Amino acid sequence: MKRWWKESVVYQIYPRSFKDSNGDGIGDLRGIIEKIDYLADLGITMVWLNPIFSSPNDDMGYDISDYKNIMKEFGTMEDFEELLAKFHEKSIKVILDLVINHSSDEHQWFCESRTSKDNLYRDYYIWREGNGKEPPTNWGSEFGGSAWKLDDRTGEYYLHLYSEKQPDLNWENQKLREEIYDMMRYWLDKGIDGFRMDVINKLAKDQNYPNGIIEEGAKHASFRPFSVNIPKVHDYLREMNKTVLADYDIVTVGETSGVTPQIADLYVRADRQELNMLFQFEHMFIDRYPNKWKKKAWKLTDLKRVLNRWQTELHPDSWNSLYWSNHDQPRAVSRFGNDTAFREESGKMLAMLIHMMRGTPFIYQGEEIGMTNVSYENLEDYKDIEIHNLYKEEVLTGRVTEKEFRKAIDFAGRDNARSPMQWDDTKNAGFSKGEPWIKVNNNYRQINVKNARADENSIYNFYKQLIQLRKTYDVIVYGDFQCLNLEDERVYAYKRQLKDEILLVVANFTEEEIDFELEDIANIHSGKLLLSNYPQVDETFKSTMHLKSYEARTYKIIL
Ligand code: GLC
Ligand code: CA
Repeated sequence: MKRWWKESVVYQIYPRSFKDSNGDGIGDLRGIIEKIDYLADLGITMVWLNPIFSSPNDDMGYDISDYKNIMKEFGTMEDFEELLAKFHEKSIKVILDLVINHSSDEHQWFCESRTSKDNLYRDYYIWREGNGKEPPTNWGSEFGGSAWKLDDRTGEYYLHLYSEKQPDLNWENQKLREEIYDMMRYWLDKGIDGFRMDVINKLAKDQNYPNGIIEEGAKHASFRPFSVNIPKVHDYLREMNKTVLADYDIVTVGETSGVTPQIADLYVRADRQELNMLFQFEHMFIDRYPNKWKKKAWKLTDLKRVLNRWQTELHPDSWNSLYWSNHDQPRAVSRFGNDTAFREESGKMLAMLIHMMRGTPFIYQGEEIGMTNVSYENLEDYKDIEIHNLYKEEVLTGRVTEKEFRKAIDFAGRDNARSPMQWDDTKNAGFSKGEPWIKVNNNYRQINVKNARADENSIYNFYKQLIQLRKTYDVIVYGDFQCLNLEDERVYAYKRQLKDEILLVVANFTEEEIDFELEDIANIHSGKLLLSNYPQVDETFKSTMHLKSYEARTYKIIL
């Protein structure tokens, strides 16, 4: 079924690092307003803002202390209303981040909740007695250490799947759920166009709170079997849909790690009346094992198997997102491409590969100009709590060396994605006139928006063309997908088809020049090149082609 959000192209803004309007070094809402024309020029049709609500910023806004107010550093409610109106004037939708698995420990609910066992808000959070001197269960938190924190005031522990300053909300409590639904209406009634829902598949917890199995070498058990995709989460989402979402013409995107296409259907198949689409993470793990910090060699066929199965195994009434990067992941071109000799070529190839797929594409700020990973000199240059906790847990205890730690954060640290947006070659890359809260990447004089817009062959202009193609050809949004060369370790080729509209995409994933032959395309007679990341002498389709380093092409096939 046709839906506007299936046809959208989304741009993700990490407000803290996007554009600082007042020189305090922190990106803000007025900074975003300044850049609306830039985003309109790129052609995107929706933006997702990472959390903009009041927060002590232990986890950069994912620890919310007041859901109905704007973070002071980001601006005021008037600024937000102006931002929304101005995006809407350009026909760009705006979705906000909904962080409801946990709040900040500085949220008034938690301040109340911790005061006494019979406080009215006690049950808004998850409190348990300890197990002797031990926490209630052996679960580890996502950011290191135990997932439980002893609170002296009442002698009980509260659950925090993330940092100690992010206590988990108790979704068993109906009053809490109603407060959340009310808060969602508050934003929807302002006219926002939907929500990206943070770690939404963790809302429900196994009410038996069992201990998990501690893997060799680990200090804690994973909470995942007891708190991820628990059947009860679907009751909550259906209730939320019936009570709030169904009344608005909006879009919802769930952040759901650990889902298969079959599990995903439970969240997003239309008749389930839960969410519209989600972020799956399978392709985010092809280069890491056994945890996010450990690099693992990967093959193109691994990537194909993952992406192909998300293209073909979802139910026809389900929908999905497409992405290479976000604020939690290293930069795509550094990770899956080549960020030195072939930065432009591989950046474009990666873009074409997923923008021609079925699903709603998400572009993370800076991806459209091929921004790369950072490597800072000092530990203090890093701002992410996950990085600092890792240092305390692993380096200070002597489990890993400083050098290994550096390697791990260069590879997988979240600050790779959070260095300021590179606008031009002036001081601080044009991000701020003051001292940026986090350092700018040294390569900003070369890699920046100003240069990219001036160069008609830039990654930026390539993204513009990909977005225009999506707006022009229905097959890109609604067509079927078929991979044409599953076993090839160098080239990824696939076909999209909607009735008699057919596209062919061919992408060389290597630095090598390759003579490539497409087999099995007997019924294809001719075709015309729609877009390529190299200038082409001959634009007609031939089944044998000579592909340069990271060359990618999309053809429109004529039957
Ligand atoms: C999500 C966010 C991440 C945050 C975490 C806890 O994974 O994307 O940035 O730290 O949830 O809210
Ligand atoms: Ca500012």
